Amino acid sequence: MKLRSMVIFVCFLIIISPIWSCNQRPESRVATDSSRHGTSLNRHEVYIDLKKVLTKDANRKTTDVNVRYDPFFKTSKKFRGYYINPLIDSVIKTVDFDTGRAIIIFECNDGYRPVMDLSKIYGNTKGYIAFKDLENGLPGNWPDSVDQKFAPYYLVWDDVKKQDKSFTWPYGLTGLKLMSGNLEYKRIYPYKDTTLTKGFNLFRENCFKCHSINKVGGTVGPEFNFPRNITEYWKEEDMLAFVKNPASYRYNSRMPPVTNVSDMDLNEIIKYIRSMKNNKLIN
Ligand code: HEC
Repeated sequence: MKLRSMVIFVCFLIIISPIWSCNQRPESRVATDSSRHGTSLNRHEVYIDLKKVLTKDANRKTTDVNVRYDPFFKTSKKFRGYYINPLIDSVIKTVDFDTGRAIIIFECNDGYRPVMDLSKIYGNTKGYIAFKDLENGLPGNWPDSVDQKFAPYYLVWDDVKKQDKSFTWPYGLTGLKLMSGNLEYKRIYPYKDTTLTKGFNLFRENCFKCHSINKVGGTVGPEFNFPRNITEYWKEEDMLAFVKNPASYRYNSRMPPVTNVSDMDLNEIIKYIRSMKNNKLIN
């Protein structure tokens, strides 16, 4: 008796399965198409898988770039790469991406996630996704000493002054994520209190690439707001001292000391972090 009802049930499943998969298809087709092209697309969030996108089109134009000052190599350099703007523009156009207050997050294979305002790539300084160091005398794309780090891509800028720290130079670059202001800011922006904006901006410039708030941000260091806000279990004076000199708290800390931010600004950052305690917006 039991067996018979099971057989009937299985037959029933077989009969309805085509209906089922028809219903499913439109969605899954979108997903596979876009992942085949290396991008996932909607008006507020775009992900570009660089390797997929850049190697798909063999005719994509490469450019030789003269970099005025490379902060990693600490000198002027020559690279071969792809100008970043046409790549981004073509994606933005395809999905009618909402560029208002948008940011671009550079995703690297070690979890590093530096961020910049998207508008920055439309300034006079041009960004390139470099895949080859043209001054490397050897056959490989990168000098042996850095090859593991730099492949697949290294983001370079043609004309940045040595003292200008507002551009980011991530290596091991694998993907670009564009987020429209609306989506990103909803989760991390301190809407309720404008006095926190300064701390938020400082956090974004100095900590966000490694730390996340509400799961938005880097994954190199710990998340600061979910499920518990870090100020609930770390004394704020210890946070301040730790940030300036992690090695004085922890042997082998992986966090580099933050030396370019004043105590006053660090306190602004901590104030912002603390305020997010009552603002736990998770997807
Ligand atoms: C380059 C990456 C990086 C940057 C930038 C960075 N951190 Fe960290 N941070 C880490 C890592 C990794 C840890 C994990 C702990 C360790 O290795 O000691 C950490 C740990 C911490 C801790 C201790 C929390 C814990 O439970 O371990 C605090 C507090 C902290 N960071 C604050 C900050 C603040 C504030 C900023 C910005 C001013 C900042 N960090 C910038 C990587 C970074």
